[in-house]
Amino acid sequence: MPSHQPRSTPRSDGHPPELTREQIERLESRYGNRFLLEPAPDNHLPRSGMSADEAMRLIGEELVLDGLPMRNLATFVTTWMEPQADRVIAESLHTNFIDHAEYPQTAEIEQRCIRMLAHLFHAPGETTGARTQGSSEAIMLGALSLKWRWRVRREAAGKGTERPNLVFGGDVHVVWEKFCRYFDVEPRIVPLAPDKYTIGPEDVQPHIDENTIGVAAVLGTTFTGHADDIRGINDLLVQLEHDQGLDVPLHVDAASGGFVWPFLYPDTQWDFRLEQVRSINVSGHKFGLVYPGIGWLVFRTPEDLPEDLVFYENYLGKRDATFTLNFSTGASMVLAQYYNFVRYGHSGYRYIMETMKYNARTLAAEIAATGQFEIIGAAEQEQLPLVAFKLSGEHAYDEFDIAAQLAAERGWMVPAYTLPPNAQHVKIMRALVKQTLSQSLTITLGQDIAQACSTLEAKGRLHESDRKRVKTNTGF
Ligand SMILES: Cc1ncc(COP(=O)(O)O)c(C=O)c1O
Repeated sequence: MPSHQPRSTPRSDGHPPELTREQIERLESRYGNRFLLEPAPDNHLPRSGMSADEAMRLIGEELVLDGLPMRNLATFVTTWMEPQADRVIAESLHTNFIDHAEYPQTAEIEQRCIRMLAHLFHAPGETTGARTQGSSEAIMLGALSLKWRWRVRREAAGKGTERPNLVFGGDVHVVWEKFCRYFDVEPRIVPLAPDKYTIGPEDVQPHIDENTIGVAAVLGTTFTGHADDIRGINDLLVQLEHDQGLDVPLHVDAASGGFVWPFLYPDTQWDFRLEQVRSINVSGHKFGLVYPGIGWLVFRTPEDLPEDLVFYENYLGKRDATFTLNFSTGASMVLAQYYNFVRYGHSGYRYIMETMKYNARTLAAEIAATGQFEIIGAAEQEQLPLVAFKLSGEHAYDEFDIAAQLAAERGWMVPAYTLPPNAQHVKIMRALVKQTLSQSLTITLGQDIAQACSTLEAKGRLHESDRKRVKTNTGF
């Protein structure tokens, strides 16, 4: 009801209350929520404001329509932190991270985080990196560095720089294609196969030539949580340099895996222990266990970041170096990342990752025990703490129906999606198992999935309009 129209007053037990507009307004100011009677401001700024309590309650009431973050098993992003971390965050919400001159200790804490990550990823010596908004910004900056260094090499050799290309698998996140389109690089995408959802050296080799700025490999794909054969791809690139003198760098997209592999699979070499790995991105807000808004880019050595991409400016009286796509941003999540690093340490992160993996195994066992599903990947395969699964055998319903039924019955958000080409006919469901999914919730979820299947068994597949409500992307 538009606010300029006369309002009808609420009715109770059939009798309209005898209240004038003035009386209602007086009551509003006393009881403080006029949006019980008025629609929320929508397409223009309201002519006048409202009390702080009203504004807060208006937003709170709207947000009940959102899903519960802790039942969102689609997202890789952190939905819970310790109350003490919440306090660190709340107390620094006003700090602009880029004001290094004013907040030098915050800048120092960022550098500590980068040094800790470089150490975790086995950088051979001095290194450099950047705090980013998430892995997407880190990937843009990392891939730009690949492009710059390739161009410098080509110009030095007196060769053309018109047709750069980047090689990666169909299992990457959409940001890699975005980079190629935004920054004018030809994407050379290795297609997946119906039963092969990651890539290895034999897949990338035919796509590499002298215009290849680099290869991107994924540690923990968005689709099934497995890793590309990073070691195999590294060995191929080392061989290529040896045989043909082609220096093709490897960037590892460790958005999710960068905080999982070092703790669950410490002996697997995917990082700077491999000589062609020049840069790594990781999302602090995924398994770094920080709320949304933080990612990291780490270079093997300072020379891997082209000097030309760093901007120096005199800002608020201090010469400052920046390597970002944006400028002003909050400092809270940097501090929250450091909080987690010092709070958990290596053993704490390992304990949390082991716990999530254990619960993921329990959930996989529950789902397999229904007899309806195939779990994607063998139990001993290295994987993010998640369960990816698909229906086995013939059914009158599919994974999209189950996702919708599960949401309708219990509010779980478990996405269903199809894989990229050439596995586009494969439908998958996937549940992230995070810190907030306890052992008993894991078992309940398994039972709820079984129950959703029983319901569908009895009533048949969903109506098209219900299917439209299903979340049909991988979640991020
Ligand atoms: C493998 C991979 N790379 C990149 C991204 C993008 O990361 P962000 O959401 O931190 O920008 C994601 C997000 O899910 C991802 O899974």
